[in-house]
Amino acid sequence: MIKHCKVPDTLEIGAATSALQIEGAALEDGRGKTMWDVWNRDEQGHPTGDVPDVACDHYHRYLEDVALMKELGLQTYRFSISWPRIMPTKDAWNEQGIAFYHRLLDALDAAGIAPAATIWHGDPPLWFEAQGGWKNRASIDDYLRYAKKLFDEFGSRIARWFTHNEPWCAAFLNGEPFGTQLQIAHHLLVAHAKAVWLYRTHPHGKGEIGIVLNLGKQYPATYQEGDVLAARMVDGFVNRWFLDPVLKGRYPKDMLERYMEEGHRFDVEAEDNDLFASAKSDFLGINMYSRGIQAYNPDNALFLAKDVKNEAAAHSDMGWEVAPRSLYDLLMDLTQTYGPLPLIIAENGGAFPDRIVQDGIVQDDDRIAYLDSHLASVIDAMRHGADVKAYYVWSLFDNFEWGLGYSKRFGIIRVDYDTLKRTVKKSGRFVQEVLAKREFWTND
Ligand code: FCB
Repeated sequence: MIKHCKVPDTLEIGAATSALQIEGAALEDGRGKTMWDVWNRDEQGHPTGDVPDVACDHYHRYLEDVALMKELGLQTYRFSISWPRIMPTKDAWNEQGIAFYHRLLDALDAAGIAPAATIWHGDPPLWFEAQGGWKNRASIDDYLRYAKKLFDEFGSRIARWFTHNEPWCAAFLNGEPFGTQLQIAHHLLVAHAKAVWLYRTHPHGKGEIGIVLNLGKQYPATYQEGDVLAARMVDGFVNRWFLDPVLKGRYPKDMLERYMEEGHRFDVEAEDNDLFASAKSDFLGINMYSRGIQAYNPDNALFLAKDVKNEAAAHSDMGWEVAPRSLYDLLMDLTQTYGPLPLIIAENGGAFPDRIVQDGIVQDDDRIAYLDSHLASVIDAMRHGADVKAYYVWSLFDNFEWGLGYSKRFGIIRVDYDTLKRTVKKSGRFVQEVLAKREFWTND
């Protein structure tokens, strides 16, 4: 059924990127290195695969890029600040790196686009990793020194801050033993809570601050008890393990018990629970791409679950099910369980191969279908009481998709990696029209 959707006046619409994925200029103006700068290289440092040295070259082309944002009519732009560009070593600030973000903020300001900054997004400096990264509790102080520097420098210019992007990925997508991963997650949560306090007590801390979690609704494959339990466990692992400490001030009891029963332990200091309970976020940031379907699986000792693929559904180029109604369910669940609570969709979008129908026209109808159906779910949830403040499309540009390099395209603007030419895709024009008219049609 074709459905007409009106975008509420209160919903800000923007697009998101992250520093490592778009900036390039990896070896310029005093920037330090991240693991992504050494990954995919031989002993002599020659690339053996995709590397982020140039990416979208946003560092040099930011004026053109802000002009494109303005052309699309974006109300707000979510970007991340490159930690190694600001702090190339543990004890140094890189003034040239700081100056870049002032130039970017000047351009956004002149274009009337509200900046929203992520303190770190997947790119910890190599020196930070060398001291044990988030495994090492002492590292939290380095993150806080970095966050304070950002508030000092940019706090009066940026009114929306995100502490971490997807701490679940930082904690659990590394080959560490599970207990170590829980320790990393704990340190990330402590760092988040301390950064919230730092902002609250900072002279520039007049805006809003929160975390960005990767969340996906988990559905049981059937309503049999085992499948329901499996979905609940995976929900506990992926969603509630971070949601509960951030929004309720404590870990979910069922998961904590499960982990302890299986012998997975991590250290918590006496003051941490009070810290969790007292650090109140201004909003919850959500990265949503898909959902999960779980079935009972006794072979999986920890979660008793296995993923089930919905063969009937469309999937993106990442292999992720396109499940727009699950965003509605997620927003309503969050509102009921943790609300009332301001929500920000910090990332939502789809990777699809570009179909270039003629020079300058990228006919990405699959991406438009992804975006309009998810946006329709957001609007429905708002109508039913979810307090959604903003929606950011992932991503403004095709970019460096981490371990997958340049092979996946998420952008509403195409980037030709040979010429670095930008081309607004049909989906970019769709976003532009939604912003101009504050209404659109979707196939429900
Ligand atoms: C999210 C990341 C973002 C991007 C998208 C596709 O997990 O936050 O940087 O890679 O996935």
